[in-house]
Amino acid sequence: MKQFFIQTFGCQMNVYDGWRIATMLKSRGMTQTENVSDADIIILNTCAVRAKATDKVFSALGRIRRAKKPDALMGIVGCVAREVGSDAFRRVPELNFVLGPQSYHKLPQILDNPDTRLLNIDLGGLEKFDELPQMTTAPTVSYIPIQEGCNHCCTYCIVPYTRGRELSRSFDDCMRDTLHAAKTGAVEICFLGQNVNGYKYTDENGKTFRLSDLIRETAKIPEIMRIRFTSSYPTEMTDDLIEMFATEPKLLPFLNMPIQSGSPNVLRRMNRPYDLDQYISIVEKLRIARPDIQISSDFIVGFPDESDSDFDETLQIAKRIGYINSYCFKYSPRPHTGAALLPNQIPENIKASRLALLDNTLNEIQRSFNISCIDKTLPCLYEGPDKTGLHAVYRTPYMQQCIVALAGKSDAPTMANITITDANKASLRGKFAE
Ligand code: 5AD
Ligand code: SF4
Repeated sequence: MKQFFIQTFGCQMNVYDGWRIATMLKSRGMTQTENVSDADIIILNTCAVRAKATDKVFSALGRIRRAKKPDALMGIVGCVAREVGSDAFRRVPELNFVLGPQSYHKLPQILDNPDTRLLNIDLGGLEKFDELPQMTTAPTVSYIPIQEGCNHCCTYCIVPYTRGRELSRSFDDCMRDTLHAAKTGAVEICFLGQNVNGYKYTDENGKTFRLSDLIRETAKIPEIMRIRFTSSYPTEMTDDLIEMFATEPKLLPFLNMPIQSGSPNVLRRMNRPYDLDQYISIVEKLRIARPDIQISSDFIVGFPDESDSDFDETLQIAKRIGYINSYCFKYSPRPHTGAALLPNQIPENIKASRLALLDNTLNEIQRSFNISCIDKTLPCLYEGPDKTGLHAVYRTPYMQQCIVALAGKSDAPTMANITITDANKASLRGKFAE
């Protein structure tokens, strides 16, 4: 029996793409291996968002080409394939295939013709969703992509190049996949899109569907206990969607809505045309709709020409909003993006010290939020056992990890009310509520 090895880098969209590829290979009678040297086909499912992510792929390829069986097929799919294109074959001559994030469904071509080289980085739109077989069992937390690509064109971002213009899948396709996931094991649905709250689909009768319609419909499915979505663009946070936080208890009180910077000057150069008052008023509306809501963000530090006072405004907004569970990154110039050509690129040491400062601030906010959860009882979703097997790992509605002693319980319930007993920056400890 042939074996395949797949390693996924990057965002949840890539994780989903990886699931679809694995399902397709299994449907052709292959089994998955964690060991590169046993594999007959090796797939790196790649991320290009920062230069480091792309470098990681090429160093992994360097290791793999020495470890693999001589006749194993090896290739890259996803965003680096699209970023680098045919140059990937020059950099790593052993590569057999290079397939972009919208053309990985062409992978069977290389299985049928293993002696050729396959390059396809076309923007095939939504066609990939229908070409590959559906998963037979859904993960407890199932990702449902409702959209591909992005129209926002932030000047730092390679995604509009790698994943193309924004396209929303039809409401019926999204609901068909959601129902299928619910019937085959999903308990939580996470809708995915680069600009997920911009989801908009108009059917042949002229009826337009938004993300709020998907949430409302999904909340009716008895098997689904929790709903969330990522990643949101601030100004697409429309009132109908904010209203969902008030009316749909299954929608988690947690929202990822990246601000990227707290400086109006930097935001303008990033081509993110919202002002801070607008952002703050959206957060206020969300808090009125759902008083216990928490917000997370991504931040970029060291964007070209970012001054100390620009950066200070980022620190201020991080504290003002009180973001939990956030990520910050050093700006990384990417090919196919406008900001890479801007003057006044920031030296690496300044980027590093700003990153450390912002990280500290965000960690402090996270720690105090985690501590504020002590003695609260939260409905949590079971993720799996910890390494010792003595504890269960649960996920709170705010995506915090919570370790719970099994204390003689033979199996952990999928959903459980957990009373938080202890907390630090990274995680919580809890016990099953009485
Ligand atoms: N450099 C650094 N971070 C980036 N991101 C996107 N592009 C870049 C870049 N060129 C970050 C943004 C985005 C997250 C997924 O990655 O913060 O929200
Ligand atoms: Fe990385 Fe962005 Fe591609 Fe996701 S869409 S894999 S974050 S470059």
